Amino acid sequence: MTALKTAIIYYSSTGTNYQLAREAEQAALDTGAETRLRRVKELAPREAIAANPAWLAHYDETAGVVPEAGLEDLDWADVLIFSCPTRYGSIAAQMKQFLDITGPLWSKGKLANKVVTAMTSAQNPHGGQEATILSLYTTMFHWGALVVTPGYTDQAVFEAGGNPYGTSATAAGDGEVEAPILKAARHQTNRALAVAGWLQQGRDAANGS
Ligand SMILES: Cc1cc2nc3c(=O)[nH]c(=O)nc-3n(C[C@H](O)[C@H](O)[C@H](O)COP(=O)(O)O)c2cc1C
Repeated sequence: MTALKTAIIYYSSTGTNYQLAREAEQAALDTGAETRLRRVKELAPREAIAANPAWLAHYDETAGVVPEAGLEDLDWADVLIFSCPTRYGSIAAQMKQFLDITGPLWSKGKLANKVVTAMTSAQNPHGGQEATILSLYTTMFHWGALVVTPGYTDQAVFEAGGNPYGTSATAAGDGEVEAPILKAARHQTNRALAVAGWLQQGRDAANGS
């Protein structure tokens, strides 16, 4: 089996989703996958970023360090892992803008059959995590991607608060993501990669290779 190409595409203002994305990348690397960790372009004006010290610190830490996500990363990947904070019960505009430029790939069918999965964070335990993940998945349903959720397939999901849609941190961007959440992110990543591996084997068998 060839190494699965895994793109981890995230947006983060204050670092929570960056932590989730990095955990997902490490989990993927640990399975032998090739990875690309990609940051969705920041769109907020500099004054808005500068007004929030945590946002400014995170922006300065990652801009120019983590490469910006591009359509070529989506095209390249077998597996796409998304992580994006909750904004008023939905996804951040920065991520939405990135999704909204995927038309050229979508129209050629190049996003169909990608294995995808999504994570999020919100400040409150019931701050809209499921809604955010569902709204990410809605775009992916239109792509014809194969959405792989964690469900309740591992004890790690229960220990992380029990969100079967995708790993969800309850965090305000002011600290480390808790270990059980990172463990659930690892399980979710491993599950998406396992399903992608089965698909790859099935395709290879069908093609006689
Ligand atoms: C404009 C805005 C809207 C937000 N809306 C919600 C919300 O609806 N529910 C919630 O619990 N947290 C909300 N939050 C808090 C963030 O979702 C939370 O701090 C998140 O964990 C930050 O992720 P990050 O550190 O990756 O940027 C909001 C934050 C901002 C700036």
